[in-house]
Amino acid sequence: MCGTDKRFVEEIDYGTPAVRSEKTVTLTIDGQSVTVPEGTSIMRAAREAGIAVPKLCANDMVKSFGSCRLCLVEIEGKGGTPASCTTPAMDGISVNTQTDRLNTIRRGVMELYMSDHPEDCAACAAGDCEMADMAESVGLKQNRYGDEGANHLEPRLLVSTG
Ligand code: FES
Repeated sequence: MCGTDKRFVEEIDYGTPAVRSEKTVTLTIDGQSVTVPEGTSIMRAAREAGIAVPKLCANDMVKSFGSCRLCLVEIEGKGGTPASCTTPAMDGISVNTQTDRLNTIRRGVMELYMSDHPEDCAACAAGDCEMADMAESVGLKQNRYGDEGANHLEPRLLVSTG
């Protein structure tokens, strides 16, 4: 995730792979109408509408598995906060990707990740980093849990012996 090489052209990552279907569905995301092939994830539909939902574990090269829980959204009239990467877009639904509730949940999740991240992002020299980008995008400025996570890898385990 850290240290993206700037020599490569940055392409849009739609979050989940494209779906082929003769049928389409039309939904509303953050007030914008978007039509996508049936079976497309809400995350991809949002990105096609120009809306980037925060994410860590999904990209458009692999089938989504809904692990990181950063991409949660709200669907009007439905309870809960489903993961947009594993929830298919459905005809007629209205999705919100930015609410106070979602932002609070995302910040809490990201704070836990950062508490076990073995680098101080402010001091990291890697440059382009998805972890830092996501922390910033959810507005995480402080980590209440400290930086001494019990699961940090020991430096000796990071050295190749081959
Ligand atoms: Fe990780 Fe959706 S991007 S759960």
